[in-house]
Amino acid sequence: MAQTLLLLPGDGIGPEVIEQTVRVAEKVAPDLGLDYGLIGGASYDELGTPLSEDTIAKAKASDAVLMGAVGGSKWDGVERHNRPEAGLLGMRVALDTYANLRPALCFDALADASALKRHLVEGLDIMIVRELVGGVYFGQPKGIETLEDGTRRGFDNAEYTTPEIHRITRVAFDIAKGRGNYDRKWGGVCSVEKSNVMDSGLLWKQEVQALYDAELKDMGVPLHHMLADACAMQLVREPKGFDVILADNLFGDILSDEASMLTGSIGMLPSASLSDPGKPGFFEPVHGSAPDIAGQGKANPCAAILSLEMALRWSLDRPDAADAITRAVGAALEKGARTGDLGGELSTSGMGDAILAEL
Ligand code: IPM
Ligand code: MG
Repeated sequence: MAQTLLLLPGDGIGPEVIEQTVRVAEKVAPDLGLDYGLIGGASYDELGTPLSEDTIAKAKASDAVLMGAVGGSKWDGVERHNRPEAGLLGMRVALDTYANLRPALCFDALADASALKRHLVEGLDIMIVRELVGGVYFGQPKGIETLEDGTRRGFDNAEYTTPEIHRITRVAFDIAKGRGNYDRKWGGVCSVEKSNVMDSGLLWKQEVQALYDAELKDMGVPLHHMLADACAMQLVREPKGFDVILADNLFGDILSDEASMLTGSIGMLPSASLSDPGKPGFFEPVHGSAPDIAGQGKANPCAAILSLEMALRWSLDRPDAADAITRAVGAALEKGARTGDLGGELSTSGMGDAILAEL
């Protein structure tokens, strides 16, 4: 049976970057069935919900799902459960994509676009493995209540269980094994938490270590533990010392935004959200909907195109097509193709043209 990729363009610059990604998909995988669905504000405006049963059913029936972006100030006044972001979080839960892979890779041609000095980021290739369906994002109870004196109290519950920690730890070790970068300062897996102040963080550290001692040690992959704040510091001090960073949902969110700036632009970074093998993966650029530039043809489509690359590699088992995309993006950048975020002047479709020309 033909494989299908569900496209969810979403909001803001989402539709523009997905349009360029579709051109690339038609070139490298012409037999791939493409389907479309609604998510986020686009879905809320049309259906009154940011994530419909129809979109969930289509996603579950696909081999992979590729989203553009969700969100925008247009929906600021909407109740939290109907906000565009709720559509994204709901999709992560519906597909149980607990493993979020966020590579931070510095293309040679972009080493000078980084906020850090060239020698710190040249050749940078690290992977953040973020737990995506647990922790403080989903912990109950959460809410905002009014106290007797009229002031208010907002609260969220940070929680993790042994199975949640173990399954994401296994993913991080499998990936580190495949990469084999054990000679780096924190090579192998570097697990981060705030075990010095949070009980859920202490449990995280203990359970990662316990699984390692009981089952993973023989893989030969080194394990390091680091406090999340120290990791944030080391990421700008010595980013190439890392290989695979294993983090919970909240710290992974923050550290992956930080890591993105090491690579030149958040407009370059893709991500993969994976469930157990055989289930559809969810792929999306790390950048948001960028409402300030939406509809102007200024957005960098590379992160979306590289998210397609990850879909081809991790869900669709087409490594050759994936390699072709990585090569084409690198070649286009070498020849000077740049959108505004990279200090250039190409439009979204112009960047698409430059990449297609290399395929
Ligand atoms: C991300 C985003 C999301 C998150 C938002 C849009 C809900 O920041 O994917 O990193 O916090 O997970
Ligand atoms: Mg984020």
